[in-house]
Amino acid sequence: MPVTAVIGGQWGDEGKGKLVDLLCEDMDVVARYQGGANAGHTVKIDSDTIILHQVPSGILRPDCICILGHGMVVDPSALSEELDALEQYGISTDGRIQISYTAHIVTPIHKAMDRATGHIVGTTLRGIGPAYADKARRLGIQAVDMLDITRLGQYLIDRLKIGVQQGEFKADELDAIRDEMQSFLYAADRLAPMLTDTIASIHQAMDGGKNILIEGAQGTLLDLDMGTYPFVTSSHPTVGGIAAGLGFPVKNIDRLMGVFKAYTTRVGEGPFPTELNDEVGERLQEQGAEFGATTGRKRRCGWFDAVAAAYACRINGFTELALTKLDVLDKFDSIKVCTAYELDGDTLPGFSAAIHQLDLVKPVYTELPGWRTDTSDLKSAEALPTEARDYIQRLEELVQVPFVKVSIGAERSQILTL
Ligand code: GDP
Ligand code: IMO
Ligand code: MG
Repeated sequence: MPVTAVIGGQWGDEGKGKLVDLLCEDMDVVARYQGGANAGHTVKIDSDTIILHQVPSGILRPDCICILGHGMVVDPSALSEELDALEQYGISTDGRIQISYTAHIVTPIHKAMDRATGHIVGTTLRGIGPAYADKARRLGIQAVDMLDITRLGQYLIDRLKIGVQQGEFKADELDAIRDEMQSFLYAADRLAPMLTDTIASIHQAMDGGKNILIEGAQGTLLDLDMGTYPFVTSSHPTVGGIAAGLGFPVKNIDRLMGVFKAYTTRVGEGPFPTELNDEVGERLQEQGAEFGATTGRKRRCGWFDAVAAAYACRINGFTELALTKLDVLDKFDSIKVCTAYELDGDTLPGFSAAIHQLDLVKPVYTELPGWRTDTSDLKSAEALPTEARDYIQRLEELVQVPFVKVSIGAERSQILTL
């Protein structure tokens, strides 16, 4: 299958990085279409744990070309640091990174703006919302302007004036912004040679029958339009984001994989119907080592929400699914799955009926027996305990899409094919 897309089905951190790395073994090109340095995609190879933020996770496969599409908001300073970190791991990035001329740029000003208001949503403070807002307000700056550092510097001065006039960041941030500008301009200059017409590049790969992987960041429930607004990110992680953010025709995607954790997590604020504020939630958090890969924040944890998952499958049209972190459930005596939402004694017809009143719904659970067996060393799906297979099968019945991969540990090798 030459074109595969991998999209998060929940509130992000489903294990997309691991799946993308795995699938990239056979890929020629890997492309991101939205988001920016808010993403934290973890790939674990032997003793190395590498966290990718803006560089697509295919960078760990030496022959893979990595595209940062125009739907992204690119932070030059953070990207430059990420490239240095990759080089330290011995991963050569030379000639392998292509940045769209028309991707928007995250500046130190956007990050200061995020620091002023981001706490309301609980953002990653990476300047994502302000950069996308500037894009929509026609106030933004595109990557092409990294070719002209004088012009870029002038933009920063002009944008800073607007920011001061409109009180968009705290006055005591001014020095910090000015300090960061120098390294920002330096990074922009470094990245300028990586600018490419990425629409032409990805179409050329497509026409040449190359294997292409499209890597989503964040997750369906964080989608600006179809997520739990306003507690969302400012881009479209869902499938439509691919058309808008890469100029790639979605009809040419052969395989659309949704990634789901075997339970649910969320970082930041916002409604979460199956959240467990008790010792079971703490157990999931501890056993799953649920800390944000970008901000280090503790992730909120709860049971698998099949109402939300069915919605994610439906709106994206996933053709297949991956289930990650099944091993985290290994020690539980019983496991619950949310099969419906109730409101005022009525069962709601689905997630979209509840999305504007999610904090009021009551999850209805079905309880399944745990398997109480270590799955992390298993080498084939046939070896999965019956209860684990029943759990996966129950999820499939609820979301109506088959799971084809089951991840049983963070390592590359810890994956089963169903
Ligand atoms: P992403 O943002 O979707 O790429 O996911 P993150 O990297 O933010 O979070 C997933 C975390 O779970 C990372 O620490 C991974 O190393 C880890 N992980 C991925 N798959 C598995 C798995 O099957 N089992 C366990 N125990 N950890 C996993
Ligand atoms: P990956 O790609 C989990 C969350 C933030 C916050 C909201 C808005 O690793 O799955 P933003 O900084 O985007 O304006 O924050 O979205 N968020 C993520 N949660 N995984 C992510 O990325 C996320 N990126 C943003 O915590 O609630
Ligand atoms: Mg993550």
